[in-house]
Amino acid sequence: MNPVRAALIGCGKVGHIHAAALKALPEADFTAVCDTSADRAAAFGANYGARPFSDVAAMLTEAKPEAVLIATPHPLHAAPTVLAAQAGAHVLVEKPMAATLADCDAMLTATRQAGVRLGVISQRRLLEPVRRMKAAIDAGKIGRPALGVFTMYSWRDPSYYASDPWRGKWDTEGGGVLVNQSPHQLDLLQWFMGPITEICGAWSNVNHPSVEVDDTAVALLRFQNGGLGSIVTSVAQKPGIYCKVHIHGSNGASVGVETDRGATFVAGMSRIREPALNDLWTIPGEEHLLAQFQAEDRAHFETIDATTHYHRLQIQDFLTAIRDNRPPLVSGDDGRIVVEMFTAIYRSQRDRGPIALPIRE
Ligand SMILES: NC(=O)c1ccc[n+]([C@@H]2O[C@H](COP(=O)([O-])OP(=O)(O)OC[C@H]3O[C@@H](n4cnc5c(N)ncnc54)[C@H](O)[C@@H]3O)[C@@H](O)[C@H]2O)c1
Repeated sequence: MNPVRAALIGCGKVGHIHAAALKALPEADFTAVCDTSADRAAAFGANYGARPFSDVAAMLTEAKPEAVLIATPHPLHAAPTVLAAQAGAHVLVEKPMAATLADCDAMLTATRQAGVRLGVISQRRLLEPVRRMKAAIDAGKIGRPALGVFTMYSWRDPSYYASDPWRGKWDTEGGGVLVNQSPHQLDLLQWFMGPITEICGAWSNVNHPSVEVDDTAVALLRFQNGGLGSIVTSVAQKPGIYCKVHIHGSNGASVGVETDRGATFVAGMSRIREPALNDLWTIPGEEHLLAQFQAEDRAHFETIDATTHYHRLQIQDFLTAIRDNRPPLVSGDDGRIVVEMFTAIYRSQRDRGPIALPIRE
């Protein structure tokens, strides 16, 4: 395929994963990088062989990328997305899509008006055990997905919040564990279970007094298909334990994945050291496959760098989607649902009651 002229906005920690993918993928012609810190842009430019810029508008005008990858802090996703769309570039933005629904809607409107694609990173959708679950659910093997359970017991050290000035503050991060660490599994929960009609939730800050935001949250969910769900998500367990998504079906069968073991990885600060594995598979006649799936995924893990591999697959999907003129694996509409989910939990605590979805602003 004809490579897509691509640029990166945001040369920080996860930016390295994007840049390495753009440099390695034959589907990309990595032309430009942009960061408000001219030094960071210059270092990335030298490292990855792309032209450095410190101003998004100048980069769009001069480098004319066909696709832009955005890896700035969450409340700073919308402005470059809108500028890129207005310049005619397709946009793949890091998770969460934005910190607010108003930002999501501005991004969706700008990309629709420009006729460009909008994708949102959710690389755990590409994990082999996750794809296996999705295929089984879509094939009807658990009947109707009736009960969806997302649990994360992770840990973030105070030094993590101190590592960048935007972390841990409502204004510059938009939230805590719900906004930063949970979007991957919130996305999986809604992907497996289908549309959500109501969320009732609560949050607290258990043991991170140096930050303003939530380190722990719980929620009950109702789905359009009649199903129920629960969320317990926390970065207040030391050491971190695991992160799991389990789906129980109307025929009594269950499928599940442990997406992360221990504390979830921090891009640029730690690495993924253990494979994601199916930890539950009770589909009648397939129970014996669980051990085989685990063995396959452990063996595959030894052949890849899991910290970067799944990002690269999603970026490759996005570039291919542009050339094939099809939606990317994870669209802007999907990304907005995740923002609706955490917005509903914050509003539910504020208003002391259930919040109906979808939320239209
Ligand atoms: N998918 C994942 O697993 C994953 C992992 C880590 C981070 N992330 C997401 O990536 C985003 C960035 O996180 P990070 O840890 O790399 O942050 P970071 O602070 O390390 O990097 C952000 C970079 O953006 C730059 N920047 C800020 N505003 C800008 C602007 N207007 N134009 C150009 N550059 C600008 C900053 O100077 C900085 O270099 C966040 O939304 C985060 O949630 C995703």
